[in-house]
Amino acid sequence: MKIRFSDSPPANVRLYARILNQGDMPSDLDAALVDGANAARFKGSAGQVFETFAMQDDGLRWIALAGAGETDATGRRLNIEKAGAALAAKYLLSGESDMVLDLGHADLSGVEAAAALFGLRLRSWRLDTYRTKLPADKRPSLETIHVVGAPEGTNEAWTEAEAIARGVEFTRTLVTEPANKLYPESFVALCEKAFEGTGAELIVLDDDAMEKLGMGALLGVGQGSERPSRMLAIRWNGGTDGDKPTVFVGKGVTFDTGGISLKPPPGMEDMKWDMGGAGAVAGAMLAIVGRKAKANVIGVVGLVENMPDGKAQRPGDIVTTMSGQTVEVLNTDAEGRLVLCDALHWAQEEFDPARIVDLATLTGAMIIALGNEHGGMFSNDDELAGQLACAGEGVGDKLWRLPLAPAYDKLIDSPIADMKNVGPREAGSITAAQFLQRFVKKGTPWAHLDIAGMVWSTKPGHSWDKGATGYGARLLDRFVKENVE
Ligand code: BES
Ligand code: MN
Ligand code: ZN
Repeated sequence: MKIRFSDSPPANVRLYARILNQGDMPSDLDAALVDGANAARFKGSAGQVFETFAMQDDGLRWIALAGAGETDATGRRLNIEKAGAALAAKYLLSGESDMVLDLGHADLSGVEAAAALFGLRLRSWRLDTYRTKLPADKRPSLETIHVVGAPEGTNEAWTEAEAIARGVEFTRTLVTEPANKLYPESFVALCEKAFEGTGAELIVLDDDAMEKLGMGALLGVGQGSERPSRMLAIRWNGGTDGDKPTVFVGKGVTFDTGGISLKPPPGMEDMKWDMGGAGAVAGAMLAIVGRKAKANVIGVVGLVENMPDGKAQRPGDIVTTMSGQTVEVLNTDAEGRLVLCDALHWAQEEFDPARIVDLATLTGAMIIALGNEHGGMFSNDDELAGQLACAGEGVGDKLWRLPLAPAYDKLIDSPIADMKNVGPREAGSITAAQFLQRFVKKGTPWAHLDIAGMVWSTKPGHSWDKGATGYGARLLDRFVKENVE
C-alpha cells in the first residue's frame, strides 16, 4: 500500500473517504449525504463506516465516512487508527485501486492523522504468496492512498509510524509462515535480510556454539529435530555508549509437536505460531531500528523445533542448563521454558541488561485464564510492570498482571534435580513463570509476558484480519519510546 500526500485530490479517483469525529458532521458536506448518514444511524463512533454513491460533475463517486469516536475519548489515537483500519477492511477488495483520504475535517494532530494511515496500512496486510488460484475479485485491489488535508506534521509522524508498521508486518509474516518454510535457520535468514543495511548487528549461535556454552536445556528440546537449533541476537546501539541495554527475549519454537509427550492431532497446526514471542521480538527490533530509536536495545530469540524422534529427549531426562542448574524434564511438551531459561541466562551473561522482558506462547493455561483479550504479565518489578501495562494500553496490545510467590515456586521442586519442568495442573501459567524466574539474576528487573492467547486470532480484530495479529511488536516499541529513549 502506497501513501501519497497531495495538496489536491488527483483526477480520476472514484473512491473518497473522510474521517469524522462522533457527532460532528462538517458543514461542507452535501445535505443529502448528511441525511443519508443520519438515516443509516451513522454516529461517527470509532470504526463505524457509512458509504454512499453520488453523481458529481466528473462522474460517479463512491463516498465513505469513517468514524473516529469522540475527540476527548481515552484511547483517542487507537480510535483514529480504527477508523483507518475500517476503511482498509471495507475497500481492500473493493476493486478500486486508489482512494482519496481527506484528513482535514476531524481536528487531528499530525500524529493522530498518521494513526489513521497506520490503521489503514496494518489492516490491509495479508500473506497471499501461497494462493495461486485466488480469483481476481478476491484479490486486494487497493494500492494507493492519496492523502489530502493532512495536518502539519503528518508526514514526519507517518515516517515513524511506517517503520513501526514494517515491524508489525514482519512479526505477522514470521508467525504466518508454515513450519516447513520457517525453521530456526530460515528464521535467522529472514532476519538477516530484514536487517541488512540498517546498522543493527546480528549475532548467531549454532548448535556447536551453544553446546560449548552448555545450553543443555535448549539443545535438549531441539535434539529430536532434523533442523539444527539457533540462538539469534539483534543488537541496536542507538543510545548513549555504555548505557546498559534493554533486552527482549523471545520463545522461538518454530513447531511444537510436544515431542515424545506428543500433542493430540486436533489443532496441532496452530503450533506453527509457537514462535510468536520470537516473532514479536524480531518485529519490535525492526521497528526500533527502523525509526532509529535513541536507545540501546537487544532482541534475543531462542529458535528450536520440538519433534518426536529416536533422538528426541524422553520424559524423565535430566538436562543441565547453561546456568548450571539441572532440570528434570517430566513433560517434553513444556519445552518453551527450557528454551527460554538458556536464552535468558545467556542474555544476562553476554549483555548485562538494565532490564529484561521475555515474550512467549508459553502455556495453554494462559488462554484459559485470560482468553484472547490480554496477554499475561509476571514481573519482579512494579515499575517495569506498570510501564509495560501502560505501553500495552496505548497501542492496544493489552496486558494483565498475575502473581509470583514462593509458594508457587515450591511446586516445581524435583526430588532428583534442582527443578522439574512442570508443576501440577493448577496455576500452570504461574509455575511456568516461576521456572523462568529461577534463571533471572537477583536485582535485574524482569517481566515475563505469556502471549499464548494473543498471537493468532480466529476472527478479524481492529487492525488485523483473522490470523497473525502481530501482538507484542508495537508494545515493545512503545515501551522503549516511553521509558528508555
Ligand atoms: N506452546 C505450548 C503452549 C500453547 C498452547 C500455546 C496452546 C498456544 C496455544 C506450550 O509449549 C505447551 O505445550 N505448554 C503445555 C505445558 C504443560 C505441558 C505443562 C500446556 O500448556 O499444555
Ligand atoms: Mn509445548
Ligand atoms: Zn510450545
